[in-house]
This record gives sequence, C-alpha cells and structure tokens, in this order.
Amino acid sequence: MRLLLLALLWNVANAAAAAAASRHLKTRATTFSNPILWEDYPDLDVFRVGDVFYYSSSTFAFSPGAPVLKSYDLVNWAPVSHSVPRLNFGTNYNLNNDSDRAYVKGIWASSLQYRKSTDAFYWIGCVESSKTYVWTSESTGAVEKNGEVTHWNWTAKATLDKCYYDCGLLFDDDDTIYVAYGNSKIMVAQLNTDGTSEVKSQQVYASPDGAYIEGSRMYKINGTYYIFLTKPASAEWVIKSSSPWGPYERQILVDSIAGPLANAGYSHQGGIVSTKDNEWYYVAFMDSYPGGRIPVAAPITWTSDGWPQLVKDGSSWGKTYPMPVQTNRSVPSPIGTDEFVGPELSHEWEWNHNPDDSKWRLSVDSSSAGLILATATVTNDLFAARNTLTHRIIGPKSEGTFRIDPSRMSDGDRAGAVLFRDIAAYIGLYKDANATKIVMVDNLNLDSNWATNSTGTIAATGPTLAAGTTDVWLRVQADITPAFSGISVQRTTTFWYSTDGNTFTQLGPEFKMTNSYTFFTGYRYGAFNHATKALGGEVVVKSFAMQLI
Ligand SMILES: *[C@@H]1O[C@H](CO)[C@@H](O)[C@H](O)[C@H]1NC(C)=O
Ligand SMILES: *[C@@H]1O[C@H](CO)[C@@H](O)[C@H](O)[C@H]1NC(C)=O
Ligand SMILES: *[C@@H]1O[C@H](CO)[C@@H](O)[C@H](O)[C@H]1NC(C)=O
Ligand SMILES: *[C@@H]1O[C@H](CO)[C@@H](O)[C@H](O)[C@H]1NC(C)=O
Ligand SMILES: *[C@@H]1O[C@H](CO)[C@@H](O)[C@H](O)[C@H]1NC(C)=O
Ligand SMILES: *[C@@H]1O[C@H](CO)[C@@H](O)[C@H](O)[C@H]1NC(C)=O
Repeated sequence: MRLLLLALLWNVANAAAAAAASRHLKTRATTFSNPILWEDYPDLDVFRVGDVFYYSSSTFAFSPGAPVLKSYDLVNWAPVSHSVPRLNFGTNYNLNNDSDRAYVKGIWASSLQYRKSTDAFYWIGCVESSKTYVWTSESTGAVEKNGEVTHWNWTAKATLDKCYYDCGLLFDDDDTIYVAYGNSKIMVAQLNTDGTSEVKSQQVYASPDGAYIEGSRMYKINGTYYIFLTKPASAEWVIKSSSPWGPYERQILVDSIAGPLANAGYSHQGGIVSTKDNEWYYVAFMDSYPGGRIPVAAPITWTSDGWPQLVKDGSSWGKTYPMPVQTNRSVPSPIGTDEFVGPELSHEWEWNHNPDDSKWRLSVDSSSAGLILATATVTNDLFAARNTLTHRIIGPKSEGTFRIDPSRMSDGDRAGAVLFRDIAAYIGLYKDANATKIVMVDNLNLDSNWATNSTGTIAATGPTLAAGTTDVWLRVQADITPAFSGISVQRTTTFWYSTDGNTFTQLGPEFKMTNSYTFFTGYRYGAFNHATKALGGEVVVKSFAMQLI
C-alpha cells in the first residue's frame, strides 16, 4: 500500500523534525487549524469507539456512498470504508440512460453510530424523501480492539417505507433505538430491537417562530436527551429533555458567528463527540463553494445546568485551538500518489453513480499495472457515461495528475481528467481513426433539473500523440478557496498535459468554477473513459497524484 507507506514516512519525518511540521503533519502539534480537513465531507455524524473517532458524510449519487472516516486525534482523518457499498435505491443509481439517473438524489444527511450490544455499526438514511435504508457492519470487534475495525462487512439490513428526513440515530443506555428526524417539526421514532422497523413515532418539538430547522443529531449525556438541529445555513440549536419524547427546552449554540475562513459560509450542522478525557468538541461544516462543504471543529464546555457552549476566539469560531488528543498514531494523508496496487480501490475514490463492475479492474500485470477503465457507455455525454471515478479536491489549491496509458483506446473513445461537477471541464484524449489528440473541453453542463444541457465544446486542441504512446500525464490545477459569500469572484482551474511526466504544458483557457451550492457536492477530480462509437477500448490509469500547490 503505497499510501500507507507514505503516511508512515511522513510520521517518521514528523518525529524527527517537529519544528518543520506543516499543516498536514499535525500529529504531534499542540494546536490544530480549521478547517480540519479541507475536503468536501458534508452533513457529518461523528462519534468515538475506544481510541478511534469515526465520521460519516453524505455523497448523493456517488458510489460507494456514505464514507466512514477514521481519526485518532479528531483532526487528521482518512476514509477507511463506505457504509453503502452499492447504492440500492433504484435503477437510476446505475446511470442507465439519460432519463434514468440520480444526480443530486441519493444520500443526503444520514447517520452512523456504533451499537455496543451487537458490536455493529449502523448507518441509516432517507433517500428521495420516500424510503429509509439501514445498512450495518456487524461483528467488527471494535470494542475489544479499542475502536479498531479490521474487517468491514456492510450488509443491507432493512428498507423502511417511510422517510426519516435528516435523521440522527441514538442507541440509548438500555439499548433502545431512537431516530430524531424531520424539518421544522422535529420527530422522534423508536425502532424495534434490531432496527428494522418502527415501533412508534411522534413529534417532540416545533420550531417556535416558524424558522426552518433540520439536520437532527440525537445524544444521551448524563441521563439527559439532546437533539442538535441546524437552522440552515447559519445556526445550530440544541434542545434537551429528560425524556426522548419531550418536552424539550431550547438554547442556541451558534448563530451567524464569523470565521474561521473568509468568504465561506457560517459553521453549522454538526455533531458533538468527547475524547477519552471527557473533553467535548462540536464538529460542523462550512459552505465553502466551489469546494463544497468542509469540516471545522471547536471545543465546547458545559454549563452547570447542562447546556453546551462553544469556545470561541473573541466572538468568532477559532482559526486554531489546542490539539484534542496527543497521539503518535496517524492515518494516511490525502496527499500523495495512488498507484492502484489494490487489492481494492482506496476509499478516497467514489464513482459517479454505481459503476458497471464488468468494465473496470485493478491490474498488477507489469505491462498494464493500474486501474483499467474500459469504456462502459456509448455516448457523447460525459454526464451519461458510467464509470467516471472521482476524488475529492484538497484545498485551498491543489493539483491532481492522472498518468494514463492510451494505447488500447478504440476509434471514437474519449478519455481524460475532468474537473467534475454540474458545470464541468476536462483535459481529454480523443481517439479518432488511428490518431489520439489531446483536447481541452469546457461548457459541459447540467441544467437546474440535472438533465444534460450541454455536452461540451472543444476550447483548445493540443498535439496528436506519437504512435505507440503508452504514457500521457493529464493534470488539473484547481483553486477551491471559498468564494461563497462576501465576494463575487469565480475561482479558476487550469488544465495541463505532459508526455514525459516532467514538462507540463497548459492547454486551453482558465476555467471559471461555479460557486452555486445547488448541486451540493463540490468540484472533484475525476478520470473518465467513454465510447462514442462502440465499446471495446480501454485505458490504464497508472497513477493519480494529488498535492497542494
Ligand atoms: C432507461 O433505463 C431504464 C432502466 O434500465 C429503463 O427502464 C428505461 O426504459 C430506459 N429508458 C430509455 C429511454 O432507454
Ligand atoms: C457479513 O454479515 C452478514 C450479515 O450480518 C453475515 O451473514 C455474513 O456471514 C458476514 N460475513 C462475513 C465475512 O463476516
Ligand atoms: C457528566 O457527569 C459527570 C459526573 O458527574 C461529569 O464529570 C461530567 O462533566 C458530566 N458531563 C456533561 C457533558 O455534563
Ligand atoms: C507511540 O508511543 C508509544 C507510547 O509512548 C510507544 O510505545 C510507541 O512505540 C510509539 N509508536 C510509534 C510508531 O512511534
Ligand atoms: C489506421 O490503421 C490501419 C492499420 O494500420 C490502416 O489500414 C488505416 O488506413 C489507418 N486509418 C487511418 C485513417 O489512418
Ligand atoms: C445551457 O448551456 C448554454 C451553453 O451551451 C448556456 O449558455 C446556458 O446558460 C445553459 N442553460 C442552462 C439552463 O444551464
């Protein structure tokens, strides 16, 4: 595992030269900086088992869905699993055709918690406002192993014929399962003993002034029930009661407080978690488009009557705070090179909709080691092509470089490196007749109903590859510095190619990213390969390297 090795080397380097520790070598730092991870991981749920913190996030129609991230210090996180290995919500999640697809549908604010009595991680989420899906990974051994899970075994456990909108799961001290959910009218449901059906459900709280609230997270702390709620996109409310059914009293945890990043939205919609030393933290996200929604953390203290209070820097969310946990254990950095050595794809990757698994594989064959992407769809529309593999962009500015072997492309195939979102652009390889040329394409976009409005325009044409070329490097440089509020600039992306891996040439104009939130997912790096004439061709993605610039 190349990434693991890199992470280990980073740790060694860190121990040897603590003074040189950068923002990404925080392991033994005494303070941390917000955001804790400058990547798009919205709608988080956060909890701890033993020494290990876990974090779950929404992924819409990306597959696998609902990543599970792990941390030893609440600051350095890495995705280690996905709760929903394959979206089982309908045929539209397979991107079958132009009229059967699921952009912006799928996994919205959902919940992940650990249940000690059955040693199971439970994921629960409402999809398309109609059904609620439960996935579990059982017999994980997490408590015995101080929180560590060596084998995840996600299984579709139940489908409830009811929507628990923006739900938060609680396993009570007596093991009763509760789910808080809803918007404006906040509901609590009690589930049966294995979490596969509803026992009862009732409204427990109504927003007092008609304010729209959602994003429930439910806790029981020292005998008191708490539900954390967001008033999007600026505030977090806390309601508490001695009974899960209420009556609940309210206080406001944060409301429109500044920071920690300029031109981002307010920190809101999060959850709380304690360290082993009983120190508590609120972890929330900020709207940070074009990059999506990125997590921030801050300590909380408790009043004598049991209300949480955010530790601020003056009146703002702090840019830095003391490190929550001092540990020499770390997780792989998102920065580095992935050579697709397997045996599985790293959990940094998510496909655009469920992939056609017959059209991709990881190869260790020395002549074509890497990720084999065979064309899976005949289309002129990248938004309709299956098997585009995406990777979150690390901010504020980074580059993602795909090394590709195009030698087995077929006539009419289009492969490349995309800056993927509803308004997208790419640097690609167009194989026509026997020649493969490099092109930069922009003006790919979906309309506001997420139907394809434009399949793209060639903005620049680069060289034709020499016959027999087996290596071409395609690079996307993205600036996802927030431009969501207070300014009206559009951040830019540039596209580059190289035929030797050393000298890169920019192709085409700067591409201006959209700051709109309505697609929800922020921009991502992606590799694609689709046919326009017939299936049969393939490319080898030999590596992907992401680094800050
Ligand atoms: C799209 O795919 C779905 C599911 O496979 C199928 O039921 C439907 O007929 C297809 N529609 C078109 C226009 O091909
Ligand atoms: C995975 O979980 C399912 C359902 O809980 C169980 O039937 C199966 O034996 C488990 N498989 C492994 C390899 O643990
Ligand atoms: C819970 O109770 C314990 C013991 O009284 C106390 O130390 C702790 O601070 C309380 N925690 C919270 C979050 O109120
Ligand atoms: C981490 O710290 C523990 C306790 O100080 C020590 O035993 C262990 O060898 C350290 N591990 C590494 C990888 O540095
Ligand atoms: C493509 O290559 C084949 C085999 O070498 C050759 O017969 C054919 O003329 C070439 N086509 C073009 C358009 O160059
Ligand atoms: C459709 O694409 C064109 C460019 O081809 C663009 O000018 C227009 O705004 C787009 N319309 C929508 C609804 O996205």
